[in-house]
Amino acid sequence: MTVRPVRPEEYDALAALTVSAYQALLGPDLDRGYVAELADVAGRAAVVDVLVAVDDEGRLEGGIAYIPGPGPLAWFDGRDEAGMRMLAVAPAVQSRGVGARLIAACVERAKAAGKASLLLHTTAPMVVAHRLYERAGFRRDPDRDQVLEGGLLLLAYVLHLDGRVGDTRPGGGIG
Ligand SMILES: CC(C)(COP(=O)(O)OP(=O)(O)OC[C@H]1O[C@@H](n2cnc3c(N)ncnc32)[C@H](O)[C@@H]1OP(=O)(O)O)[C@@H](O)C(=O)NCCC(=O)NCCS
Repeated sequence: MTVRPVRPEEYDALAALTVSAYQALLGPDLDRGYVAELADVAGRAAVVDVLVAVDDEGRLEGGIAYIPGPGPLAWFDGRDEAGMRMLAVAPAVQSRGVGARLIAACVERAKAAGKASLLLHTTAPMVVAHRLYERAGFRRDPDRDQVLEGGLLLLAYVLHLDGRVGDTRPGGGIG
């Protein structure tokens, strides 16, 4: 498996893969507006780094958006921070380590760019993702949680890359 930037001819396939992964998990709870956002691979590839995992035959297995700094798609404004969004692995190839590889690729990018931390937001049902984030060293940072219009709680996870320790307070676990 290889992780590399998405190619324009893969935009449609990555859009379908991303929507199908989120739909498989969330079903009818998946907001229609968010489906359109998940499917807009061209839009995000124009402003951030969209990475894909492909198998040895070039078949798309998953994708993630690496947000290199403040600006479009960023939930942060610190210049020493980077972010990750829209992690998705095709349901047919889940549980083979693809998700972990995509996360690792973003961590590598953030380290190479000299970032102090890597931030992401997730939601309560995404428990498989939470385990992956925890295993990669991310810790909950409730102070950076967000509540969307309509009340959806976005849980913040942060990976500190500058040697600081993350939030290990009791109750700082998955909410
Ligand atoms: C979250 C998601 C990306 C994980 O992708 P994935 O490729 O299945 O992730 P991994 O294979 O790296 O890890 C998933 C599990 O498989 C296990 N696994 C990994 N490689 C394995 C292998 N070779 N054999 C057996 N199990 C393995 C991992 O340990 C992990 O187990 P756990 O759930 O008990 O912790 C995927 O489930 C998904 O697309 N979900 C819907 C969208 C979503 O929730 N996105 C997160 C947004 S915040």
